[in-house]
Amino acid sequence: MKILLTGGAGYIGSHVAAALMSSGHEIVCFDNLSNSDATVMDRLEAITDTAIPLVKGDIRDGDALRQVLNEYAVEAVIHFAGLKAVGESVAEPIKYYDNNVRGTLTLLEAMRDCGVKTLVFSSSATVYGEPQYLPLDENHPTSATNPYGRTKLMIEQMLADVAAADPEWRVAILRYFNPVGAHDSGLIGENPNGIPNNLMPFISRVAAGRLDELSVFGSDYDTPDGTGVRDYIHVVDLADGHVAALDAITRTDQALSTWNLGTGQGYSVLDMVEAFVRVNGVRIPYRIAPRRDGDVASCFASPERAERELGWKASRDLDAMCLSSWNFERLLAMRNAD
Ligand code: NAD
Ligand code: WQD
Repeated sequence: MKILLTGGAGYIGSHVAAALMSSGHEIVCFDNLSNSDATVMDRLEAITDTAIPLVKGDIRDGDALRQVLNEYAVEAVIHFAGLKAVGESVAEPIKYYDNNVRGTLTLLEAMRDCGVKTLVFSSSATVYGEPQYLPLDENHPTSATNPYGRTKLMIEQMLADVAAADPEWRVAILRYFNPVGAHDSGLIGENPNGIPNNLMPFISRVAAGRLDELSVFGSDYDTPDGTGVRDYIHVVDLADGHVAALDAITRTDQALSTWNLGTGQGYSVLDMVEAFVRVNGVRIPYRIAPRRDGDVASCFASPERAERELGWKASRDLDAMCLSSWNFERLLAMRNAD
């Protein structure tokens, strides 16, 4: 298929681009580069042996979207483009509603205008709010505790309404748990601007000596070692889940499908530190700090529906996640030194 990846230059989009190429799809990336840079396309070319077109543009620009949908005869869209920092969304909610909600609405209008009705959307486990039971299955009630989460919920609701109104749509909502790790090549991975909010990039930068120590946010949770438990999923497994979801919605007669993409396995913050140190032979100085506002004790998926309906299951373990993160970080340091 010919597939448009909004936000295709970003962390998850670039891994999905590589996975789609190796499954024989043709792709075009559309990104305003607000949280990525165009050099990722050269590295994707090195991985896939193919030059992937990048159109620089904003999803709030309907004309630009219509042009790319028509010019490349796009048949399906995978929609990653969005802002994702929880704390920033609390401080700047208008920016988040504008970028994420208005951006998605503009994308849906452009798709409708061009007759493209197949869409995979990057949602998040954040839409489950405070877990009422674990593991979280897709029927768990949804709620949001911050503006970022509310944008994901609003978009999910918009997509449900669109799919209900026109049965020709084929929409997949993918609720990611905690994506970590990097491509085996070490050429693409997660490289956030500024000080990372998320655990794994923070650990990598402490290991690299770019940050002094990790603050472990809370050690008095009701978990085996007192630190927060999450469902970390290797980004390459996550990428394969997109290929499987796209394939599934092109064959189903259902207009809307929702799948968790997680492993079903929870690891604590200290499990992550221990594994990273063990497999990479590095030091991660850390200290216990107060809990972070808004954090829950534990959050992990039931991946059963995706296993059953997509025939997809995450296969890469925690060691592979830690090894690939560190491999990416070291290669990044070498590239930056050049
Ligand atoms: P990322 O920031 O690396 O990638 C997002 C890309 O979208 C960036 O390249 C950015 O430049 C682009 N972008 C942002 N706003 C845009 C706009 N208005 N127009 C065009 N391009 C725009 O983030 P990621 O981790 O790859 O996340 C991708 C998607 O997955 C996001 O929607 C995010 O909310 C969702 N998600 C991420 C995680 C995670 O932990 N990484 C978890 C759950 C869901
Ligand atoms: C994981 C664990 C922290 C940093 C966030 C978003 C969520 C989704 C994924 C997009 C927690 C602890 C972290 C640090 C720490 N994103 N931690 N020290 O909070 O599960 O989810 O990213 O949709 O919406 O909320 O991920 O990586 O920030 O934290 O101790 O410096 O690591 O308290 O227990 P989180 P995270």
